[in-house]
Amino acid sequence: MNFLPEEIEAYAERFTADEPTYLDELNRYTHQHVLQPRMLAGHLQGRLIAMLSHMIKPMKVLEVGTYTGYSALCWAEGVAEGGSVHSIEIDDELAPKIQRFWDGSPHKEKLNLHIGAALDVIPELADGVDIAFLDADKKNYLNYLDLLLPKMHPGSYIIADNVLWSGKVLDPPESMDEDTATLYAYAQRLKEDDRLEQVLLPVRDGLLIARIK
Ligand SMILES: C[S@@+](CC[C@H](N)C(=O)[O-])C[C@H]1O[C@@H](n2cnc3c(N)ncnc32)[C@H](O)[C@@H]1O
Repeated sequence: MNFLPEEIEAYAERFTADEPTYLDELNRYTHQHVLQPRMLAGHLQGRLIAMLSHMIKPMKVLEVGTYTGYSALCWAEGVAEGGSVHSIEIDDELAPKIQRFWDGSPHKEKLNLHIGAALDVIPELADGVDIAFLDADKKNYLNYLDLLLPKMHPGSYIIADNVLWSGKVLDPPESMDEDTATLYAYAQRLKEDDRLEQVLLPVRDGLLIARIK
């Protein structure tokens, strides 16, 4: 879901840096050969991710939900010298595609794929994370927060995608499905936590950025 009118989105993309060639190729490949290509972050959100990464210069990024590896490549652009991106994906059939495109990029040394369910894998990886990016399995966002928050440090960020869920977060609470109710509870939990400062950007399906104070 995209909340911007199509022509505004096109204008925003026009005056946003182009995708690097390897991302353009991955974007096209995903749309031609992989189911549910709209899951991929895409041009505008991808450039936002890369820009945030350049601004924060993280040593360690932890991503939940790799899909074909597009957003992980965007995070990799800005990691500090010697830094790394760890991305968790439950679907092992995606692994060869992900690896092929990562290997063909200038960032292959920084990228690490972990196949498994995020609830199982996060505890192994959560130490020293500067940016956690949640982009899978909405019903577990609160569980991911519970796993990550105690391990995060002041100045680190938890960034969650799809927090507007095509606008369903505005539904009356009694008619929300499980994913929508969790996304609403996630936003509420962040807002009530004095340790966090947050901003919700209505970019694409909604990006909620929380900074640990
Ligand atoms: C929205 S896509 C990720 C898109 C990717 N971040 C990007 O922008 O290019 C979500 C991915 O999470 C994976 N996924 C779903 N449940 C998961 C879980 N419990 N643990 C890890 N990955 C999961 C799905 O297989 C899917 O590939």
